[in-house]
Parts: sequence; structure tokens; C-alpha cells
Amino acid sequence: MKLLVTGGCGFIGTNFIRLMLDKHKDWSIINLDKLTYAGNRLNLIDLEENESRYDFIQGDICDREMVMDLLADKTIDAVVNFAAESHVDRSINDPSPFVTTNIQGAQNLMECARQRKTDRFVHVSTDEVYGSLGDSGKFTETTPLAPNSPYSASKAGADLMARAYFETYKFPILVTRCSNNYGPYQFPEKLIPLMFMNAKSDKPLPVYGNGMNIRDWIYVDDHCLGVELTLIKGREGQAYNFGGDAEETNINVIKTLLSIVGKPESLVTYVKDRPGHDQRYAMDFSLAAEELGFAPTLSFEAGLKKTIEWYESNTTWLEQVQSGEYRTFMNTWYEERA
Ligand code: NAD
Ligand code: TYD
Repeated sequence: MKLLVTGGCGFIGTNFIRLMLDKHKDWSIINLDKLTYAGNRLNLIDLEENESRYDFIQGDICDREMVMDLLADKTIDAVVNFAAESHVDRSINDPSPFVTTNIQGAQNLMECARQRKTDRFVHVSTDEVYGSLGDSGKFTETTPLAPNSPYSASKAGADLMARAYFETYKFPILVTRCSNNYGPYQFPEKLIPLMFMNAKSDKPLPVYGNGMNIRDWIYVDDHCLGVELTLIKGREGQAYNFGGDAEETNINVIKTLLSIVGKPESLVTYVKDRPGHDQRYAMDFSLAAEELGFAPTLSFEAGLKKTIEWYESNTTWLEQVQSGEYRTFMNTWYEERA
């Protein structure tokens, strides 16, 4: 199989490309990535240099002509779209790039693939499209979409477009909705790598609100497994939920992380809450279990240890990805929250 993967220089895309090329010796992958602040070409530089089944193209999923040209290659069997603006806090500061890439870019990819008659298209979405849960219940694929942040609203927009492409054109599209990922190569603006980085340098760990918001954490390889199963076995037009069966409060995640890295809980600092902060996410992934044979393989404790081991041995990666643009964003964000 020959895949066009978009956003492959980001966190999940990088892990997906590595896993798929390792697992499927007859697969080849073209990675199309714009290289925003979150994309790092060096993540996959070893493949670029040594793996003939991997190609990198720098480009924007919004670029109609370029994507049409790429998909004119009839040997591309499927598209997997990871490309996105992915950080909720950034979407609160400025929703515009989220609309551009996550809605218009996703629609552009769908349209090009439709016109080029691509056989299969997996659109990677998120549990955040469902909004927020109270103390009980879980999101199923039939839970109404009720996004609360500009990020999740933009992802829901693309999900609805995917639905329309299937209903209107019978375009062979499938959607995955996964809970919060963690693991190697995650950009240090997200909770776990940010807290690791701050803890290592004895900086305060900024906890939004009271720290009691709940996320369902999944190790990134398990999400990649879900995307792979969807690509191979999923039903066209269907959305599939994926989760790690690991609900944790933010404060518990942080305290567990501090105990693994051997740093004191006195580093925890409560800061002003995120506006529109979703209280709880939890995934019912029984449809994916029944139809695709999906089950998460790693517990939260084991996954977190593995992740921290990776960050401990890749401190140069952490330094490398902290460009000036990243530092400016974080400094402004903290000043506003102080
Ligand atoms: P990320 O921010 O780490 O990576 C996004 C990648 O997309 C980057 O390499 C970036 O350069 C690229 N990109 C951005 N705009 C682009 C454009 N216009 N054209 C081409 N490339 C572009 O994100 P991630 O955490 O790896 O998430 C990947 C996908 O998975 C996203 O669609 C996200 O919504 C979804 N998702 C993420 C999580 C999570 O916990 N991180 C959970 C569920 C779903
Ligand atoms: P994040 O990693 O941004 O993922 P998402 O918003 O997509 O769930 O945040 C995870 C949780 O951690 C979320 O409830 C917000 C909280 N959080 C903090 O308390 N402090 C922080 O500095 C960050 C980045 C997140």
C-alpha cells in the first residue's frame, strides 16, 4: 500500500509513520507537512536518509494545485490526514489558522482525493468534538457534536464535512476520534511534556483551575493502532472512537509524573483556568473493539514511564523544538494567566 500521510512531522504523525513502515514492509509513505512551529522534519530524518519507502514533501494541505498534482499519482492508495493546528490554548488566542487548516485544508484534501478517485481516506479527529461530560457517562459515536473551543469547533467542522462527502458523493472516507495522546515527540506545550520540562528545570508547573479536569489518556502507539485498523478494516462513512480506558485528573497526572522524575509536589502552581475548559472526556470505544478488534495495550502508568524515559534520553530534541516562536507564545500565555 502507498499512503499519503499529512502532518507526519508532528507528534502523532511521526509515531504513525515509524510504526507503519516498521510493521508493513510492503507499505510506502509520502509525508506532506507544512512544517509549522509544531512540525519537525528532523523527527524522521533517519528515514529520509536511509529508507527508500519514505518521502518527505514540504507543503500546505490548503494548496489545491499541489495536492491535485500529488494525488495524480495513481499508485497512492489512501490518504491519512493528521495535519492540523492542534493546541486548544493557541486556538483561544487566535482561531483563524484553525479554521484555515482544520476546516478548509481538510476539505481541500477531501476534494482533491475525491476528484482523483483515491480509494480510501482516513480523517484523524478528536474526542473534543463531543464537548464536555459531567461525572458519569462516556462519549459514543452517536453523542451529538458540541465543541466548546475554537480548536474542537474546527475539528467538528471537518468531521461534518467528512460526513457530507460520504453522504453526498459516497466518497470512501472514515473518521477516527481519539482521546488525549501522550508519548515520544509530543510538542512541549501539551500537558505531559510541558510538565516534564518544567519539573526537570525546577520551574513551576502551571495547573489550570483546580486541577480536577479529567482526560482519558492513551499512549500514542495505541492511537496509531486505531488509525491503522480503521484504514485497513473500517466501514466507509463511519466514525470510530478510540481511548485508553485511563481516566485521570490533571493533578493526578502531574503528581504521578513528579514522583517518576523525583521532583517535589511543591512545584505545582495553580493558575487561572482556561476559558471554556472542558471538565471531563471519556471514550466508549466498544464499536472499534467489536468491528476492528481494537484494544489499548498499555496502562497509563506503564505508558507514562515509557514516555518519561524517552524525554529523559532526548533532551536535545526538547531543546531543538523550542524555537523563538514557541517561547514567545508561552511567555505571553503565562503573563496573561498570572
Ligand atoms: P501536532 O501539532 O503535533 O502536529 C501537527 C502537524 O501538522 C505538524 O507537523 C504541522 O507542521 C502539520 N501541519 C499543520 N498545518 C498544516 C498544513 N496546513 N498543511 C500541512 N501540514 C500542516 O499535532 P498532533 O498532536 O500530532 O495531532 C495530529 C492529529 O491528531 C490532529 O489532527 C489532531 O487534531 C488529532 N488528535 C490529536 C490528539 C492529541 O492528544 N495530540 C488527540 C486526538 C486527535
Ligand atoms: P492539553 O495537553 O492542552 O490537551 P487538551 O486541552 O487537548 O485536553 O491539556 C490537557 C489538560 O491539562 C487540560 O485539562 C488542560 C490542562 N493543562 C494545565 O492544567 N496546564 C497546562 O499548562 C496545560 C498545557 C494543560
